Amino acid sequence: MVNCKTLISNLEETNFLEKEEFVELIAQHSEEDARFLFERARAVRERFFGKSVYLRGLIEISNYCANDCYYCGIRRGNASVERYRLTEEDILCCCEEGYQLGFRTFVMQGGEDAHFTDELLVRLIREIKNRYPDCAVTLSLGERTKERYQKYYDAGADRYLLRHETANAQHYAQLHPAWMSHERRIQCLWDLKEIGYQVGTGFMVGSPYQTPEYLAEDMLFIKKLQPQMVGIGPFVPHHATPFANETGGTAELTLFMLGLLRLMMPELLLPSTTALGTIDKTGREKGLLAGANVVMPNLSPVSVRKKYDLYDNKICTGDESAQCVNCLGVRIATTGYQVEVARGDAPDWRR
Ligand code: 5AD
Ligand code: FES
Repeated sequence: MVNCKTLISNLEETNFLEKEEFVELIAQHSEEDARFLFERARAVRERFFGKSVYLRGLIEISNYCANDCYYCGIRRGNASVERYRLTEEDILCCCEEGYQLGFRTFVMQGGEDAHFTDELLVRLIREIKNRYPDCAVTLSLGERTKERYQKYYDAGADRYLLRHETANAQHYAQLHPAWMSHERRIQCLWDLKEIGYQVGTGFMVGSPYQTPEYLAEDMLFIKKLQPQMVGIGPFVPHHATPFANETGGTAELTLFMLGLLRLMMPELLLPSTTALGTIDKTGREKGLLAGANVVMPNLSPVSVRKKYDLYDNKICTGDESAQCVNCLGVRIATTGYQVEVARGDAPDWRR
């Protein structure tokens, strides 16, 4: 019988476990082990970040996408989504509103949409950095060549988010059509690191065909990549995708993985995600209590939010969610943590 608590303590002490040890922990932990993990994860996060929770304002700039990931509601094969893209003016408006609300990081996220040419993106990044020099600009626009990533970086982009989705190439092939390449995706992450971006990666918990072995491989890949941020959330089925009838991931396992990530990389920026808040009403609060230290309130115009439909029942899409930041402020307060108005750079990045 493995002693999960011993493994958790070892992870906290050495920031490392062997693959087999991760597998055992992931597959065999009890509720009590999870409680112990979350306690340790909170202690570690408080050592590096105190009680602060960082905000990132998420602007969903387009739901056009050239990719066809089997899990995703805005995949190009889904003819039933109503497509939209924001104009430059729309995006700058979101930034202005966000700045007034206290955001110091803007995340421009979208499908892989050729409409957003390099010229347009460079102009937009420059304009945002010009207007708000104290803010960080984060991009989350999928796979590009290194040259293109470099252009955005030179224009002032600070960070890039690209989830690796799964570290296992066979598993990747089960989640994506054959023309999408795991190797290319992983190469993108190394390119981003090399250019000098603060990098975020991540994966879904409970995606179809996922095993504890694959999750252990995700942990080891992340350890090797050394990203500044890791975004994880449960897989949530979307009705108009090939995975419509698959089982979704659980909040329990998502929280457990958050705790493990915190102990493996104490200084990591770890968002408590919208997907976690979607499958559990207080999922985001629980995420913060399991080691997460970032939340990403939606800043997109309310009129487009329902269309950025990655999975079913996504929260923060109705009229009542016009100001997620207020809602989240109240929610965060219930955890004993507090919002910090700051860029929220990774500790190894602060000057
Ligand atoms: N359930 C949960 N997360 C999803 N994503 C895409 N589709 C789903 C889904 N059905 C995640 C992917 C992607 C991020 C933007 O959203 O991990 O990288
Ligand atoms: Fe968006 Fe609560 S955070 S509605």
